[in-house]
Amino acid sequence: MYAFRAALLSFADDGTARYEEDGLLVVGPDASGAQVIRAAGAHAALAANYPGVHTTELPGRILAPGFIDLHVHFPQTDVIGSPADGLLPWLENYTFPHESRFADRDHADGMAQVFLDELLRNGVTTALTFCTSHLHSVDALMEASEARGLRMIAGKVLQDRHSPDGVRDETEQSLRDTEELIRRWHGRGRLGYAITPRFAPSCSEAQLRGAGELAARHRDVWIQSHVAENKDEVRWARELFPASRSYLSIYQDFGLMRDRAIYAHCIHFDDEDRALMRDTGAAAAVSPTSNLFLGSGFFDYEGAMRVGFRHGLASDVGGGTSFCPFHTMLAAYFVAREGQTKPGLSLSPQNLWWQHTAGAAEALGLDGVVGNLRPGCEADFVVLDPRATPLLARKTQHARNLDELLFSLIVLGDDRVVQRVYVDGVAV
Ligand code: GUN
Ligand code: ZN
Repeated sequence: MYAFRAALLSFADDGTARYEEDGLLVVGPDASGAQVIRAAGAHAALAANYPGVHTTELPGRILAPGFIDLHVHFPQTDVIGSPADGLLPWLENYTFPHESRFADRDHADGMAQVFLDELLRNGVTTALTFCTSHLHSVDALMEASEARGLRMIAGKVLQDRHSPDGVRDETEQSLRDTEELIRRWHGRGRLGYAITPRFAPSCSEAQLRGAGELAARHRDVWIQSHVAENKDEVRWARELFPASRSYLSIYQDFGLMRDRAIYAHCIHFDDEDRALMRDTGAAAAVSPTSNLFLGSGFFDYEGAMRVGFRHGLASDVGGGTSFCPFHTMLAAYFVAREGQTKPGLSLSPQNLWWQHTAGAAEALGLDGVVGNLRPGCEADFVVLDPRATPLLARKTQHARNLDELLFSLIVLGDDRVVQRVYVDGVAV
């Protein structure tokens, strides 16, 4: 066992933040040997219970849960900042050509390392990740994640139509590959598999049906896709699946909505869609930097809260412009202020931070496992320096309460704030 003495940031069940100015975080193995949080709380209350445990003093630092990215594309790391007239031209002109290069296993291996370096530099310790349609793109990411001890959830993209040569897959083979990858990777150490239909327009009915059958056979495997991101895309999906009530309903009609199903964007929804999310236990991966960059629209936070479905934050790199959780939280704040609902909402910094940690864990069905600093949670955490830049030092020094402190970090923070990252109890 070992411990840290620093300020501690964690989250209560209702999503509000808890802050212990002079805290103690004790890390050690649980009964299975996994490195977990053994205790977290006030130093004065806990220290006497852990005599002789080596304690590192981190004055002026904040220990916080590792961030969770609910939706990101590892093969799109180099696609960041590619401008286009909206989603569909962006896919055709930049994304598909980049993803086709992952037919080369060496390229996939190299990009997996670059991607994981970027996640960790930014304090992201868990991600739900798209690979490409090439089976070995999953092997590349999973092997690299396993070597670093990361809790990573990923899947082979399914796209058997309306996709160019080089990324299009074949229906029956794609489903066999998915099942083989589930067997190979799901539940191996900290790794999990996600069944990954790219989006309804790129999948035949047979492929969606097969994906739904796999989801029914493997209940604890995740599902990830895109929905209702862009108006042209919505129109196209409706034309291709006229029997479904809405774009989102297509996924329901093929058995792809349930707990552990995470849908990116969820912008162009009506209240029936929102109720379907709530009633099935599916969750939205809100991707504000991507939505602003591609001009897709604004996630309706008011609607999500009123109807009450799970949601959390995501970078959506490479549509998204940054791996940095601070940038994503700030963009979410802008989206809620300026978005669909007038007058705008001012999301609290505690809520924004929760959406990228404990709230994201809840969306994944991993609450109590990652995303928080509570006894029993896996030991994935970050050491933050609230004085990482001159302006942050000035600003955080004058913070009068937790909201002011967190907001300073969200507005002014970047990867310089993330001083150290611990994965499975080890500094990486
Ligand atoms: N819809 C289908 N594929 C993609 C993708 O790669 N990125 C985004 N943002 N939307 C998509
Ligand atoms: Zn995406």
